[in-house]
Parts: sequence; structure tokens; C-alpha cells
Amino acid sequence: MKYKILELLKQNTAYISGEEIGKTLNITRSAVWKNISKLKEIGYNIDSVTNKGYMLNSSSDILNEYEIKCALKTKNIGKDFQFLKETDSTNEEAKRLSQSQTKNGFLIVAENQTKGKGRLGNSWSHSYKANLSFSIVLKPNFLPNDITSLTLITGMAICKAFRKLGISAFLKWPNDIIINGKKAVGILTEISCEIERINYVIVGIGININEKNFSEELKEKATSLFIETGKEFKRIDILNSVLLEFEEIYGSFTEHGSFEPFLKEYESLCLNIGKKIKAISKQGTIYGTASGVSDKGELIIKSDDNNISIVSGEVSVRLQDGRYI
Ligand code: BTN
Repeated sequence: MKYKILELLKQNTAYISGEEIGKTLNITRSAVWKNISKLKEIGYNIDSVTNKGYMLNSSSDILNEYEIKCALKTKNIGKDFQFLKETDSTNEEAKRLSQSQTKNGFLIVAENQTKGKGRLGNSWSHSYKANLSFSIVLKPNFLPNDITSLTLITGMAICKAFRKLGISAFLKWPNDIIINGKKAVGILTEISCEIERINYVIVGIGININEKNFSEELKEKATSLFIETGKEFKRIDILNSVLLEFEEIYGSFTEHGSFEPFLKEYESLCLNIGKKIKAISKQGTIYGTASGVSDKGELIIKSDDNNISIVSGEVSVRLQDGRYI
């Protein structure tokens, strides 16, 4: 019942009386009051004024099953989803579920992660109620080798979604999203495969949205959409924008079966290109200039007149002010 009341409140921009809500939903005023209290308890910001009634304050930034269902405008990605108040890691949860039952496009969103995972064995810290952590399960037909390109197109989708919101975001190869020289998003792609076949891929995304302060340790490197724009964002809107963009680009990627058509756009969003970089990869530590990205998604580094392509690794880029990010 509380979500029926919520729906009514969302439809009305003015106050709506308890009597009117009761009449519409065929419940008593006391039941209305009880359910309004429940909504307030789970975080909805509802003004109650004597003789006027109730009004939903549109600034409520709430993540729950109901909000996700209402907000997602995608066709396939996130059609089936699970919302968890807390889990160890949405990627781990996605893996557990994928042992048996997940469909292509299944989405897992968590309000809190107790053991969020980052790339290269790092951890990913997550502020309760400020940020967004989610994982998408994909069951593509392409070969395990194409996974590097999938990671790159995921970064592109997020970058493009941010730019549509007026945020000047760039990609740092392979897929960090950088705003004003600091990282705002991390992507962790994990795969379960056989030699010639992918069982499933999990694309885990962590977005720093309304975080206001980072620890001393992270301050130099991390940022959030709030810090960069001075605006608070509704996490659910960011989730929808990112998934819409992802659905489009992922659909086109699987249709083409190659990263080649995306190369130019990727390079135009990628801040590594033309810059001096340091790359720590399986080939060792390489200093050089990032000269481009190959049609397989590898970063091409020009070093001592040789071109070296790397498929994964930790890359630092030297900015104009001499800082490495
Ligand atoms: C990185 O190191 O940049 C990758 C960070 C990825 C974090 C996200 S949050 C949602 C998903 N679940 C995890 O445990 N990690 C990813």
C-alpha cells in the first residue's frame, strides 16, 4: 500500500489531503498516516501540513526496488534485477546468481557493499547512500578475446551519459572515468569462460555520485559528480542514463562484432592519446607515448621507436601540470 500512496504523491506537485488519498485508495485516514510514516522511515522526504495534507519533496534520493522499477527506461538491460540493501560485492553476488539462473542483462544494485572489489586485486570503497554500485550480467556470443573491447565500450557508455548531463568526463585507458584529472568511476569486468565460449560476463560499475569528502588517502585521486559540479544527483537517474547509453552501445557492439567502428570515438574521449604515460603490464614497466588504440582495444605505446601494444595493466598519464594520474 505504501507504494500506491507514493505513486499518488509523485503524481501531485501540490499538497494532497489524507482524506483524498484515503478515498482514492479506499483506506482510512489512519492507514494513510501509518503508510506515510513507513515511507518517511525508508527515507522519503514527505512534508505533512495540518489542513493541507502531504507533499513529496522531489529531492529524495532513494534507491530501492520500487524506484529502480519506475526509473529504468531500458528495453533489456535491467529488465530483471535484484536490489540489495547490503552485499559483499555486487560482482560476487552476480557470480553466485549466475551459477544457476541469471538472464542476459540481469542487473544487481546494492545500497552498500562490504567488500567492494577493484581492478588488479584492489578494494573499492563505497559510501553508504552517496554512491552507486551495480553489476550487469551479460551472455554474449563473441569470443573471450573480445572482452577487452567490451570493457572499453562500457567506459564509453558512461562517459557519453555524463557528457549528456553536461559533465566533462574523459576515459583513461582501459576504462576509468576521469573528471578534472580525478577518477569518478571504476569498472571491473569479470568473465567465466571456456576456451572458445563465454559462459557469462559481469560488468561491475562503481560511480561516485554525491560523495562530499574522500579520505586523505583517496583525496588526491578520487572525485565525485557532486564535487565536480556542485550539484546533487539522484542516483536512480544516473543509473538510468548510464544503462540507456550502455544498452545502445552494447547492442551496436554485438551487432558489428568488432570494436573497429568505435575506435575513433573512443580515442576522442580518451585522455591518454598523445600523452606521455607509464604502463605497468605483463610486459613490464613501459614509458612512452600513447599513440592510439588498436581495433582489438589494446593501448598502443610508442617507446624508443617501437610500438608496444598492451591488453591490460595499470596506466598513469602525465598531465600538462606534470601530475601523473
Ligand atoms: C576499479 O578498480 O577501478 C574498479 C572498481 C569497480 C567497482 C565496482 S562497484 C560495483 C562492482 N562490485 C564490485 O565489487 N566492484 C564493482
